[in-house]
Amino acid sequence: MAGLFIAFEGGEGAGKTTQSQVLADRLAELEVPCLLVREPGGTELGEYLRDYLKSDRPLSREAELLLFEAARVELVTSHILPALEDGRIVVADRFYGSTVAYQGYGRGLDLDTIHSLNHFATRSVAPDLVFLLDLAPEVGIQRAMSFQTAFTEGTAGELVALERTREGTRFEDLDLAFHHKARQGFLAQAEAEPDRWVQVNAMQAVDEIRDEVWDRVRDRLFPAPAAKPRAARKTAPQGELWPQAT
Ligand SMILES: Nc1ncnc2c1ncn2[C@@H]1O[C@H](COP(=O)(O)OP(=O)(O)OP(=O)(O)O)[C@@H](O)[C@H]1O
Ligand SMILES: [Mg+2]
Repeated sequence: MAGLFIAFEGGEGAGKTTQSQVLADRLAELEVPCLLVREPGGTELGEYLRDYLKSDRPLSREAELLLFEAARVELVTSHILPALEDGRIVVADRFYGSTVAYQGYGRGLDLDTIHSLNHFATRSVAPDLVFLLDLAPEVGIQRAMSFQTAFTEGTAGELVALERTREGTRFEDLDLAFHHKARQGFLAQAEAEPDRWVQVNAMQAVDEIRDEVWDRVRDRLFPAPAAKPRAARKTAPQGELWPQAT
């Protein structure tokens, strides 16, 4: 499998959608083949389940876990695995780390069961690189819930608010204690696998986070060549030996 799999994780409003889009745009500019996906979603079943999962319709925590996993296995099977096999870069807006954090640490479901379901639903595919956008839930929820109202001019020149459609807020509506537990769940995963997870301070500006993410992705995509032996170095061409696109 030649592709590279990058996931963005973190609590509500941490900037996952913003940064995954920014990264996908950068890769597109560089003509690096890339697939951007979001969880839950990205397939017909996944988008159907996303609607239900985001709504406030009744759902036990066990069924919630299984619906997330059902959406995941569809996405992995029909899009993520084929893209990776094709050598493309996959950028995912949430992946199994969110299930560990929300349904495990947040809802209190058994972590071993979750790990085993994650393993099954991902078909054993794990991201090579996970960016954890970490920030206080108080800030993230505020960001996620605030949405600008667009105005248009009415017939008498008055400003009329345009209705904005939003997704449901099943998770945003949960109490802060839930979100603090989920944050601990993300941090625990990052600490357990420091080679895979990169912790990013999500309080930084969008551009600062973008640059921090790009430094890591660039290192993986265009690794600097190993130092040449002394004798060879005399005849080696001078100048940059690896792409400096930023
Ligand atoms: N670094 C940042 N600083 C300030 N605001 C930000 C930053 N990144 C994103 N935002 C804004 O915060 C809001 C939430 O961002 P975004 O949708 O990217 O977060 P998310 O992690 O995908 O949220 P959700 O968990 O709800 O999917 C948006 O209005 C976005 O413009
Ligand atoms: Mg988002």
